Formats: sequence, structure tokens, C-alpha cells
Amino acid sequence: MSSVSMSLRHIVPENSSTTAIKAFRRVPCCVDGRKLASRNARRRAPGVRADEKRWGKVKAVTSPDCDGPMTATGRSNVPILSGSEVVERLKAFHENRSGEQNYSAMYSSIFGGITTDSAAMVIPMDDHMVHRGHGVFDTAAIMDGHLYELDQHLDRFLRSASMAKIQLPFDRSTMRSILIQTVSASKCMQGSLRYWLSPGPGDFLLSPSGCPNPAFYAIVIEGSSLPVCSGVKVITSSIPMKSQQFAVMKNVNYLPNALSKMEAEENGAFAAIWLDDEGFVAEGPNMNVAFVTADKELLMPYFNKVLSGCTAKRVLRLAEELVADGRLSGIKLRNITVEEGKTAEEMMLIGSGIVVKPVLQWDDHVIGAGEEGPVAQSLFELIMDDMKCGPPSTL
Ligand SMILES: Cc1ncc(COP(=O)(O)O)c(C=O)c1O
Repeated sequence: MSSVSMSLRHIVPENSSTTAIKAFRRVPCCVDGRKLASRNARRRAPGVRADEKRWGKVKAVTSPDCDGPMTATGRSNVPILSGSEVVERLKAFHENRSGEQNYSAMYSSIFGGITTDSAAMVIPMDDHMVHRGHGVFDTAAIMDGHLYELDQHLDRFLRSASMAKIQLPFDRSTMRSILIQTVSASKCMQGSLRYWLSPGPGDFLLSPSGCPNPAFYAIVIEGSSLPVCSGVKVITSSIPMKSQQFAVMKNVNYLPNALSKMEAEENGAFAAIWLDDEGFVAEGPNMNVAFVTADKELLMPYFNKVLSGCTAKRVLRLAEELVADGRLSGIKLRNITVEEGKTAEEMMLIGSGIVVKPVLQWDDHVIGAGEEGPVAQSLFELIMDDMKCGPPSTL
């Protein structure tokens, strides 16, 4: 959705010559965009014929590949709406949409405030994040009306923004305060907060140099169900993992992650596990992984090629309790081979959304005894308590 109105005049192919721009201005194009046609027959693409009807000053044209003439005259069924009509339709869309998603508040630096009206929760289409994927994001769980580990997530958010060369619209403490005020306005007690930084709206070009003001957005998503510690199956992902530079920053390019998740679902699994460029276990599409060896050591891959998970880091700290009482013999970050992973006593996925999820099967290998292991269960309980009772880092 967009709050930006635009005309064809402004859509100029990058690196176009003046002639190409003129030709582009004059013509509507076929749906697949391959055939551009013009009143100027000399510029008409091969195989494109002029239709009798006209659309404004532009003659409508068809190509053999088109279903029908691309003309507005007499056949238009797309309404041209006023701003208030758009808002009405957006309200209706939100009222009628299926699913459980409930967005209880949104902040946008574009309108400089918080809205609780989901119909108004829009961002500009010419934001560099929308059309070029140039943006970073992060989350924080809302537990009993408290934000869990906001500062840790905010630190990662700002590191990601720096790696993506996105300027900050506000200083850290202002952004932190905006996020807290957004959650407060939402009255949400259980759910999650998501927030984004981008170079902001500009001119649809590749360079963000035409985007004068970076943008900051945040949304509160209600969610009543708490994570459960039930075991799942995982597969090895066939979707290539992001390179190190992009894996360590939480940028909005989650296409590999989404395809990896879809691959898992298509194979009856919960997640697909990525291996790094050296073949070592890396991470899942939105979670880290950990293992417990036969001699009760908790293993996690180094964070230099995967996202530095806030939940995984908190789990590492809480796991010290299990070392202290002998349930674990030690904790180590190191390279982990697939063979080691598949023959581990326990395997678990760790992330904000799932907290700690035991893995019972990886591809064809049953992990350990094929049931939720004691270490995964203990870590799940420790972190859930941590979220509910509020460690010093919970707001
Ligand atoms: C690729 C990836 N790895 C790991 C994680 C886990 O990070 P966190 O525990 O901070 O949610 C995420 C979270 O979304 C992720 O996207």
C-alpha cells in the first residue's frame, strides 16, 4: 500500500536514453512489459498493432501476446478513488480479512506519530525498502505488557542499519522511547513489536541518494498464544544460504529465508537448516541451532556467519545454571559438522518466535531418543521464566 501518488511520467527506466524515455512516456505497455507500443509507428515494437480506440492522447495498442486491448475507453472497470474512498476500502479490507493478525498500533516517521487505525498503517511505495529491499528490521517479544530484551534487539538493529549504510532519523534513545510509546499506545499485553529503518521515500532509483529522509516504522502485532516446547522435524535446506556479509545483518531481504521455510513445509518439516560455505551447520531461516553432545556439552555454531540471535545469546547465559548443577558438562561455540549434529543427543532451534524448540528428526536421522530432551526442556523453561519474571534487561 502506498501513500504516494505517481504518474507514468515519473517511471523512467534506469540508464534510459532520452529517446527511450520519450517513447516510454507515450505508451501503455502490455501486461508482461515486453511489448511497448507507441503512436509513433517507427518506435513500435515488432508484432504490435495499433488499436482503433484511444486512451486520452495515447492510442491503445495490443500485441498478439496480450489478452485484449489495454484501453481505458469504454472498458475500464478499475475505479479511480478519492483518498477518503481508499481509506474506507482499507478499513473494509482489514475488517473482512481472514486470519488472526491484529495490528494494534503503528508508528511511522513519515506521519510522525502513532496510529491505532489499521487502515492508516501504510508505508510509501517509493521507500527504498519497498522497491529495492534496502532496509533493516528487528523485533522484540511483548510478554505480559513488557518488552523482552529490547536493548539487545535495538543494538543489533543499529548494527544492521550501519552495515546497510542507513542513516538514523533519530538517536538511539529517541527510537527506544518511540518503540515503548508505540507498545504503550497499543495496550498489547502479549505479542510482538517489529520495527524497520530504511533510507526512506525517494525516486524509485537504485541509489538512495534521492531519499533525503531516512524512515523509521514500528508495528505492534497481538498474539495470544505462548510458545510451546513440542518437538519438530527439520530438513537440510537446498536453498543457498546468504553470504556472510548479509547473513549477519538483519536486512529485509528474506527471500531465501521464506523459500527455505516453504521448502520445509513442503516436506512436512518445521524448518530447513542451512549449512555454511564450508559445510558446517549454520542456522535456520529465523532461528539459531544448538546441540547437546553425548557427554552433555551444549554446542552452538560461531556467530560470525549467522545472525547473532538475541535468544541464543540469552540461552547461552541461562545454560550456565545447568552447568552449575551438573545437567551440562560445558558450553562451547565451535564449528559443528552435519555428522556431529545428526548424531547429537539433543538438537534444538532457538529464536524469539519459538524460544527453544527441540528437534526430534533431521532429514532421515532421529535425534537422540526421538523425543524432547531434558536440556531443551530445561532451557525452554528457564527462558520462559526469564521472559515472565523480567530479567534486568526487560522493560
Ligand atoms: C536468520 C535468523 N537467524 C536467527 C534468528 C534468531 O534471532 P533472535 O533470537 O534474535 O530472534 C533470526 C530471528 O529472526 C533470524 O532471522
